[in-house]
Amino acid sequence: MVKISVTNLAGQTRTIDADEGMSLMENIRANDFDDLQAICGGCCSCCTCHVYVEDGWYEKLPTQADDEAMLIEDSECFQPGKSRLSCQIEVSGDMEGLTVTIAPEV
Ligand code: FES
Repeated sequence: MVKISVTNLAGQTRTIDADEGMSLMENIRANDFDDLQAICGGCCSCCTCHVYVEDGWYEKLPTQADDEAMLIEDSECFQPGKSRLSCQIEVSGDMEGLTVTIAPEV
């Protein structure tokens, strides 16, 4: 289990015990954060699993693939150095303490 802090759209933060090997999106959804809709189910085609990564973590996460970068940079809520699609991040043990905020949808 990996401790990850998640803040919802109302600004409420909860620490979840995330399973390694599952995506960050799947872990957030499994912990009843309904703000993260993840409509496409992790196919990297909807952008409704958008999260902001707390300062200092962006560089530590696996690098974005081109399709993720293209999709997320089109979002009106895109923030350079913070925005990631949570379905494209596989949780691993070195993510202990990761902190993310669910991004608003537009
Ligand atoms: S769930 Fe659709 S892009 Fe991540």
